[in-house]
Amino acid sequence: MNNPHLDELFAFLRFPSISAQTDHENDMRACAEWLVEKLRRIGLDARLAETVGQPVVIGTTARDPAKRTVLIYGHYDVQPPEPLEAWTSPPFEPEIRDGRIFARGSTDNKGQIFAHILGVEEALREGPLPVNVIFLIEGEEEVGSGSLPNFLEKHRDELACDVIAISDTGMAEDGYPTLSYALRGIAAMEVKVLGPSHDLHSGVYGGAVANPATAAARLVASLHDENGRVAIAGFYDSVKDPAGWEREATAASPLRDADIAAQAGVGELTGEPGFSAVERIGARPTAEINGIGGGYQGQGSKTVIPSEAFFKITFRLVPDQDPDEILRLAEAHFAKHKPAGVRLEITRGHGGAPYFFDPNSPDGLAARRALEKVFGKKPALMREGGSIPILAAFREKLGRDSLLLALASPDCRAHAPDENFPVENFLAGIRLNRALLDELSKPGRT
Ligand code: BES
Ligand code: MN
Repeated sequence: MNNPHLDELFAFLRFPSISAQTDHENDMRACAEWLVEKLRRIGLDARLAETVGQPVVIGTTARDPAKRTVLIYGHYDVQPPEPLEAWTSPPFEPEIRDGRIFARGSTDNKGQIFAHILGVEEALREGPLPVNVIFLIEGEEEVGSGSLPNFLEKHRDELACDVIAISDTGMAEDGYPTLSYALRGIAAMEVKVLGPSHDLHSGVYGGAVANPATAAARLVASLHDENGRVAIAGFYDSVKDPAGWEREATAASPLRDADIAAQAGVGELTGEPGFSAVERIGARPTAEINGIGGGYQGQGSKTVIPSEAFFKITFRLVPDQDPDEILRLAEAHFAKHKPAGVRLEITRGHGGAPYFFDPNSPDGLAARRALEKVFGKKPALMREGGSIPILAAFREKLGRDSLLLALASPDCRAHAPDENFPVENFLAGIRLNRALLDELSKPGRT
């Protein structure tokens, strides 16, 4: 396809801006600088702003005090592309197949934020925008946005706005307009299980010395009961039940449990009894093991008691769970269930509170009108299972709500090999930006 928008997006996608891997620091900065240049070319006042972590890209239109101000948030960092051998084409060499752009970051989040940039570019070519715009594009979203809350605090005045718009969530069905009104929170933790001072011969010592890999497996297994409920004492204490209107909204959305099974490539869905899969993902909290290891991983067999083992967990949280409180409960749980003969070293990771906003607020309704205008039908209202940790800080530090306008396809494979973004969604995103800014300029309009 010959489209200058796509050529530019491809240039953006070629940067391996992997925030989790320190050897990509230069790629991160180069990518951020490229964005600053792009924002300047379209006529914004743009700069690279330093934080204690990755630099933040800021771009603003001239501020007209008579207009409302919309902050458009996104992230230029991406998740690690591994396992590389599972990709059909290399993750940082974008390619279009069957109408989809394949590359790491194509959906999450470069393609989506770039559609907003192009929407603003096109509108500016025709004249002044109906609102003031601030782009805030960060480089730490995929590792928990650690530096951003302080940055918001410090740049409060510069970032003052009326509402925040974000495209970093998934559609209920391909091409179906979707406004997400809730995101799960997150709390991360790593547990090291320490045993003997060095690896041991498993015949010479086995039977008398606790095996850290076995202990890790027991601790991991202790996290859920036999029905799939999280077994940490107090874990569900502050969970709020969804409101009545949410059940109706869920029923009206096209997303069905069978779609989730098909997307995931599983024959059978499992989870907490008494809830549909859609509810388990959107409205219920979880404990997921993201990695587990210890002992010999090489070819063939090796008779050894490893001196240590580890596992990595993230909890997904719903209103009104608090990330710090959940980590505290988990630590107490592990202390109680620790098998004899091993020690635990627990490290707390990033955290982000759950997010919820009212899709019937004036700005929520404006977002819904924009989605309907571009996609030709009433948008689905959804709770999203993923997390965008900075949203709680946006509310706390800037006092503003975030509108989540989905552009990701349900088959986007975010965080996985063969991540992809339909060209159609990219082009729809450009139109959506224009409709959105127009609607947000007068949110009270019906
Ligand atoms: N865009 C995602 C969140 C998302 C994905 C929402 C799919 C809805 C549908 C975001 O970039 C993300 O992946 N966030 C991380 C945050 C974490 C690393 C702190 C997540 O949810 O795992
Ligand atoms: Mn992501």
